[in-house]
Amino acid sequence: MADASRDVTVPRRVWADEDVHRRELVRIFKTCWQFVAHESEIPEPGDYVTRRIGRDSVIVTRDETGQVRVLLNTCRHRGVPLCRADRGNTSHFRCSYHGWTYANTGELRGVTFQRDVYGKGGIDKSQLGLFQPAQVDSIYGLVFATWDPEAPSLADYLGPMRWYLHTVFGKFDHGLEVVGPPVRTMVRANWKAEGENLSGDGYHTFVTHQSAVELGLFATQHDLAEMAEVTGTRFTGRTVHCGNGHTMRIQRMPLQVKAPAYFGYPKEMWDEFDRNLSEAQREAQSCLSVGHGSVFPNMSFLENFKTNVDKKGDHARYIRITLRYPMGPAMTEQLWFLLQPRHADADWLRLSRLAYLRTNGPAGMFEVDDTENFVGITEAAAGTVAADLPVVLEGGLHHPPTPEEAGWPGDVADGDRTEKTIRAFHGRWQELMA
Ligand code: FES
Ligand code: FE
Repeated sequence: MADASRDVTVPRRVWADEDVHRRELVRIFKTCWQFVAHESEIPEPGDYVTRRIGRDSVIVTRDETGQVRVLLNTCRHRGVPLCRADRGNTSHFRCSYHGWTYANTGELRGVTFQRDVYGKGGIDKSQLGLFQPAQVDSIYGLVFATWDPEAPSLADYLGPMRWYLHTVFGKFDHGLEVVGPPVRTMVRANWKAEGENLSGDGYHTFVTHQSAVELGLFATQHDLAEMAEVTGTRFTGRTVHCGNGHTMRIQRMPLQVKAPAYFGYPKEMWDEFDRNLSEAQREAQSCLSVGHGSVFPNMSFLENFKTNVDKKGDHARYIRITLRYPMGPAMTEQLWFLLQPRHADADWLRLSRLAYLRTNGPAGMFEVDDTENFVGITEAAAGTVAADLPVVLEGGLHHPPTPEEAGWPGDVADGDRTEKTIRAFHGRWQELMA
């Protein structure tokens, strides 16, 4: 997994081309494992949420035995969507066209006027259950599914990414839960524009988000100058390619804080983090400024903090998941999930929620800044001349690999301001599209 993607070139037409979009749906979204829901969204039998895998609508539900099921949301008779709500609780789904009724296991249970329509023997209901992905599995409450029966197991698909998922999602004694229904937004941009950014673009932060820097939401120029003196570099951090296009970026506090300091979390939680993380994982979490990563193709997570949330001097951290559904070459449906630890202090939970909403929430100031770029990239790529130009992805090629003794799995480089992870994202995309 050495930086095999170093020679990746990306023509800009991939942001805006209808044929590329159609091919992606088949080559990527029909084969890769994709995140569909968090188990905390469907805690009780009968609970369901509707999501997408690529362009296909699916129902993610917990059946009466407690098993999580993913059901293609289209009636086997003549194709009407069975469920039009975002979420709810039911043991059966009844089609609004002719009334075929399915249990939440996917089995077809009832066919209206069966004898009249299909004769004495009826119709073979056992062959007409709802279509379901070939594999469904979960890790840290994150439910994934794939249509591909040949796909590796979820654990193998994620590979070294599991280690980083553990640092984010696996450090809490009582796990995490999704707070409120995820917000859905539509953006006139190609899904890959945000995808490559969240796979690890540390380069844009101080330009795109300059206003946030000036407001003191990031490290101040003074902090950075001081760090430059101490470390000889303005940024510290590491970027990782975990294989299969999964990536991680971990940016350190500009000033070295004595580890383990889980800045942004209440002190009462630090013991459980120490217990639940390995030594190398503790190192990845301590001194953390922002950590974010992506599970290829379309799920990203982010662990960030904000200072001065409610009043000067307070601070709180939050964990967010975003999902991107490709609704066309230039249209993406985004889902935004805030996750919070169960049983945490109520005041801190409130601060964490506010911090999220004001920064990395769907209308947070960082996201508004970023979206402007994603829409612009997509619009510009529709030009006939611009479409043939490649993008430049050479940032960070000189960054040294992190020594193996650090114990971080995957292909890890020292250096935060890089395009390493973006090359990895496009490299995997090209492998699957070829
Ligand atoms: Fe669903 Fe006819 S399309 S019952
Ligand atoms: Fe950004």
